[in-house]
Amino acid sequence: MASPTVPSGADGAVLVVGGAGYIGSHACKALAEAGRRVVVYDNLSAGHRAAVRWGPLVEGDIRDEARLASVLRAERIAAVLHFAAWSLVGASVKDPSGYYRNNVEGTLSLLRAMAAEDVRCLVFSSTAAVFGNPERTPIDEAHPTRPINAYGETKLAIERALPHVERAYGTRSVVLRYFNAAGADPDGDLGEDHRPESHLIPLAIDAARGGAPLHVFGQDYPTPDGTCLRDYIHVTDLADAHLLALARLESGGASATYNLGNGRPFSVLDVIGAVAEVSGRRVPWVPGPRRDGDPAVLFAASGRIEEELGWHPRFREPAGIVETAWRWRAAHPAGYVD
Ligand SMILES: NC(=O)c1ccc[n+]([C@@H]2O[C@H](COP(=O)([O-])OP(=O)(O)OC[C@H]3O[C@@H](n4cnc5c(N)ncnc54)[C@H](O)[C@@H]3O)[C@@H](O)[C@H]2O)c1
Repeated sequence: MASPTVPSGADGAVLVVGGAGYIGSHACKALAEAGRRVVVYDNLSAGHRAAVRWGPLVEGDIRDEARLASVLRAERIAAVLHFAAWSLVGASVKDPSGYYRNNVEGTLSLLRAMAAEDVRCLVFSSTAAVFGNPERTPIDEAHPTRPINAYGETKLAIERALPHVERAYGTRSVVLRYFNAAGADPDGDLGEDHRPESHLIPLAIDAARGGAPLHVFGQDYPTPDGTCLRDYIHVTDLADAHLLALARLESGGASATYNLGNGRPFSVLDVIGAVAEVSGRRVPWVPGPRRDGDPAVLFAASGRIEEELGWHPRFREPAGIVETAWRWRAAHPAGYVD
């Protein structure tokens, strides 16, 4: 039976594809707390068995269409949240065909399996990387999409395919373009454990804990302190957005695309300051040159999802976001132990 917070008709299970990963695992917890039955489908190429705690884990690859179809059927899946992708910009530049195979072919295989099994609701994880170098900030949904790396192109390819898929198969979708996901489950149940880690907050935390010093790429940007400004959105705020997106689709709402960020830019030095404040430790960092393709300022206009779905981020300040990440890392110094 569905919980009272779930819209009518939303009593089937949700397949969380990529649910052993960072954002997907937090979404699983939010779904379970909303009374949904959760099944995770993940090949564990980047995820963690120990992060799957709110439903069974089916180990499988999204390019295995037959297996996906059999899971959708056997588990009586009503909707899919699709997080599974490779998402390292540098690796995507070195291995574009691998990225197209995993992110584009894999998603097309999922969409075919869903159509074959009559599963017609999809929430798709997209990214700010679809915009490339911004023409203006904050970045709203009308901003031109011109990715500057293969990763962003693979996500945009799926965004562009979805209207065609809807026309042909009737699959409705909500595309969520996240900016920088950050933080950890406030209860300490889940955290961020990418290997290799490329995200600023966990790297700054590890530096404060005695790991390698943080590299700060560029101090001569046209920003107040010379370092890049970015938009950090807390992972549980992201998870909430997925529940709202799912509710829209399951109550018969139309397909939509939303930018999803905190809407308030923070500099690299702001983040370093927040880690120092929360931890009471110094964050050793070394200056480095700018990286190719790093725009000075990137932050989201999330007004559309706020107005249409009633989404509001609960975490606004870097210290609040960092505090959850710090606590999880302190309790899990080696990350997940699978
Ligand atoms: N982390 C961010 O800041 C961020 C920002 C924008 C967009 N995104 C997107 O959000 C999604 C989730 O990001 P994340 O940080 O949680 O990543 P993650 O690497 O932690 O999780 C991705 C999960 O997908 C799985 N996976 C990958 N390829 C697969 C395949 N072929 N078959 C089955 N499982 C597969 C991995 O094992 C992993 O568990 C990704 O699609 C990413 O592109 C992330």
